[in-house]
Amino acid sequence: MERRTTVTDLKAMKKRGEKIVMITAYDFPSARLVEQAGVPLILVGDTLGMVVLGYDTTVPVTVDDIIHHTKAVVRGTNKAHVVADMPFMSYQTGPEEALRNAGRMLKEAGAQSIKLEGGVAVAETVRRLVDSGIPVMGHIGLTPQSINQIGGYKIQGKTPAAAVKLINDAVALQEAGAYAVVLELVPAQLSKAISERITIPTIGIGAGVDCDGQVQVFHDLLGLFSEFLPKHAKRYAQIGDSIVAAVSQYADDVRNGQFPTDKESFIQREDVLRDVGRLA
Ligand code: KIV
Repeated sequence: MERRTTVTDLKAMKKRGEKIVMITAYDFPSARLVEQAGVPLILVGDTLGMVVLGYDTTVPVTVDDIIHHTKAVVRGTNKAHVVADMPFMSYQTGPEEALRNAGRMLKEAGAQSIKLEGGVAVAETVRRLVDSGIPVMGHIGLTPQSINQIGGYKIQGKTPAAAVKLINDAVALQEAGAYAVVLELVPAQLSKAISERITIPTIGIGAGVDCDGQVQVFHDLLGLFSEFLPKHAKRYAQIGDSIVAAVSQYADDVRNGQFPTDKESFIQREDVLRDVGRLA
C-alpha cells in the first residue's frame, strides 16, 4: 500500500546522510507533478501570497487561504508529506491560538505537519503543538513574516552575536520537539555548523550545500516569472516563456480561423443534416 513520507522517515534520512528534497506547491496540478518527480516533501508555503495571490509580501495570507490550497495539494498527492505553513498572526499570539489553527491544518486541510517561523521566541508554542500530536517544522534565519521588522530580504547571522542567536534558535526548536528546521538566507558555513550541531534535519534555502535538505519555491525553479530570480534560486526551466508562446499561438489560431479544425470539432452525419434540412 502507498503511504506518505513521515517525520520519522525524514529524520532517518538525515541519519543515513540522504539529502531531503522539498519544494513548494499550492494546487492540485503542481502537487501532482512534484510528486510524479519523486519529491517526498511538499510545503504549502505562505509564499502562496506572493507567487499565487499577487501580494507584495506573505503578511496578508490567512489561515483559510492556506487551508484552501493545502486541501488541493493533499488531493493531488498520496506519497508526499504535506507541510502547511502557518501564516502571520496565526501562532504569534500564543500557544492556544496556535494549537487551534494548527489543528485546522491537520483536521480540515489534511496536512501531515505544519511549519512556523521563529526560534527561542516560539519554542513554548512548538512544545504545545508537538505535545498535542502536531509535528512542527521550524523556520529561522530570514523569516519573511517579519519583513516589516527586518526591513528587507537579506542574509542573516552575519555578526558573531547574530550567528550565535541562530544556533541557539535551532537548538531551542529541537529541544521543543520540532522534527526539522528551515534555514533561510544563512551563510553556508553557519548552516553547516547548525546542521552538525542538531540531530533533526536542516532544510536550506539560500543556506549552502551542507544543509540536510533543500527547499525551493515552485515558481522560481520553473521560471514562471521572468522578471525576478532570487540569488538562491536556479531556474531549471522557463515555463513562463513556454506558456506565453503557447497562448499567443492559440490566440493567433483563433483570430486566423485555424482553430478549431475538423479534428477538434464534432461533425454531424450527412443523413442527419439532410433530415434537418427537410424538417427545418
Ligand atoms: O513560504 C514558503 O514558501 C517558505 C519557503 C521559502 C521555505 O517558507
